Amino acid sequence: GKGEFDHFMLKEIHEQPTSLAQALEGRIDPENERIALSDFEPGTFADVESVQFIACGTSYHAALYGSLALNQAGIRSTALLANEYSVSAPPVDDDTLVVAVTQSGETADTLNALRQANAEGATTVTVTNVVGSTAAREADQALFIRAGPEIGVAATKTFSSQAVMLLLLGQCIAADHHGEPPADLEALLPELAAMPDAIDGLLETSEADALAEQYAHSQSYFFIGRGLGFSVALEGALKFKEITYEHAEGFASGELKHGPLALVTPETPVFAVFTGEEDEKTLKNAEEAQTRGAPVIAVCPDDHRAVDVADEHLSIPETAPDLAGLLANVQLQLVSYYAADLLDRPIDKPRNLAKSVTVE
Ligand code: F6R
Repeated sequence: GKGEFDHFMLKEIHEQPTSLAQALEGRIDPENERIALSDFEPGTFADVESVQFIACGTSYHAALYGSLALNQAGIRSTALLANEYSVSAPPVDDDTLVVAVTQSGETADTLNALRQANAEGATTVTVTNVVGSTAAREADQALFIRAGPEIGVAATKTFSSQAVMLLLLGQCIAADHHGEPPADLEALLPELAAMPDAIDGLLETSEADALAEQYAHSQSYFFIGRGLGFSVALEGALKFKEITYEHAEGFASGELKHGPLALVTPETPVFAVFTGEEDEKTLKNAEEAQTRGAPVIAVCPDDHRAVDVADEHLSIPETAPDLAGLLANVQLQLVSYYAADLLDRPIDKPRNLAKSVTVE
């Protein structure tokens, strides 16, 4: 049941410290500076030259997160919408690893793309929450995110666990490919181990409810970010639109001036996600919106320069650069939840949507 919570979505947001700890259990060893994914012995990915991630919806945003992190680790990778794969897949060969990211393991679009990749001779891995799912059975190998059942149609805890597992997988691929662990692994592991506590603290102190109340009657909601923060901006907007039924869009912060700025008014709050990737540029982009009267909400640590510039602030704990976006995402999940609750939406079962989309 929902226990003390009004909705499964809120319960699942609050389960993230536990679900992440479960995902990481036995898989990271900060003391010895290593990652151990039991089904993937060191060397498994030695021949991988490039990686394609395929996924839909929220899982696509996690895939984008994993793909950007892998590019930053020096491995050629792209995230592709599974429903576009049949018409736009880049060539695959036997050095290509194709990673299907799907919470349910039953999404028709993702299964089609996975089957195509299998048929073309790629090595395939599924990252999924469901043991025994079709995607888990049909890929060469499966990596389970261990988030536990997710009842709310809007994916929350599974996004966080997917993104973290993709970071771990990416570190293993980069280590095998380069013949040594990525330089930032040593700094990343303790921060990964600290993620459950960091999210706990964030949940206890979040002011997302008051913020949602302040802006719940706006015209449109924009989310901007750069790099890993861009995938979080996309996810923040998807969550917001699907449960509030209000118009929301995510943009790469640098794209704002290439068109979307025409939509910006005092009625369009802009959530700016700061992940330490050229934050100065993102701040400048946010100020361009602010100049047009839009309230800017900075999602960043307390001592960040953006706090002084922005109209409002949602706080995230200090962490490793690869993880800041995931903490920001938890604040955005809460904003969406509280905004939808104020608007009296059926949060766990939004109209027209299903938890698992088994048609093309
Ligand atoms: C959004 C949401 C959907 C799913 C998408 C893919 O909150 O839940 O966008 O992420 O339908 O589903 P899976 O991950 O099961 O393949």
